[in-house]
Amino acid sequence: NRLHDIQEMLLQWYLENQRDLPWRRHSNAYYTLVSEIMLQQTKVATVIPYFERFIKRFPTVYDLADASDDDVVKLWEGLGYYSRARNLHAAIKEVVATYDGVIPNEKEKISKLKGIGPYTTGAVLSIAYKQKVPAVDGNVMRVFSRLFDMEDDIAKPATRKKMEAIAEQIIPDRSPGDFNQALMELGATVCTPKSPECLFCPIRNFCKGYQAGREHILPIKTKA
Ligand code: ADE
Repeated sequence: NRLHDIQEMLLQWYLENQRDLPWRRHSNAYYTLVSEIMLQQTKVATVIPYFERFIKRFPTVYDLADASDDDVVKLWEGLGYYSRARNLHAAIKEVVATYDGVIPNEKEKISKLKGIGPYTTGAVLSIAYKQKVPAVDGNVMRVFSRLFDMEDDIAKPATRKKMEAIAEQIIPDRSPGDFNQALMELGATVCTPKSPECLFCPIRNFCKGYQAGREHILPIKTKA
């Protein structure tokens, strides 16, 4: 069926085309968390050297928990949005103090950590812990808007909820983390905001927006 074909095409495409990124080489929940926080509002190419320096300086949750706030923020210099660094530091201190240094694998626990919203919760649970949980960011909302030819305004919080419900329906049991990353990767490299490269898209045959010739006007987003 169509859903199964979309899952298979995307997973296969991701296996063959994923970028070689430092946090994908040796996967653990700490690397996933650090990289996903850095990647919020910041491009992959910018994040790579920061991630590598950060992990060299703070290889484990214990190293980060022991650091001073100033040291952590200093390593973040140039990435911007410094509250991300302070929140990550606080979250990891909490992980060491409360969870024995293990980033929790339960939604209720991880989403209570400082600075960890629904997206980051889903990314860590699916990528690091292989759970079937949505991780819907701007890339994923753009892909879904086009794939299903949706006119929902992606600036509205209700649209994210709707997208999460759709993701829950289509994430496969096998490789939920790879599937979520395939959606993000597709949005970042093929299904791009301005000139989507539909001819290189593994799921263009399933894409309602492409079939309607509407990929350029989707997604709809009201406020800037
Ligand atoms: N952007 C944010 N997280 C990402 C990931 N895990 N893979 C690709 N792009 C991303």
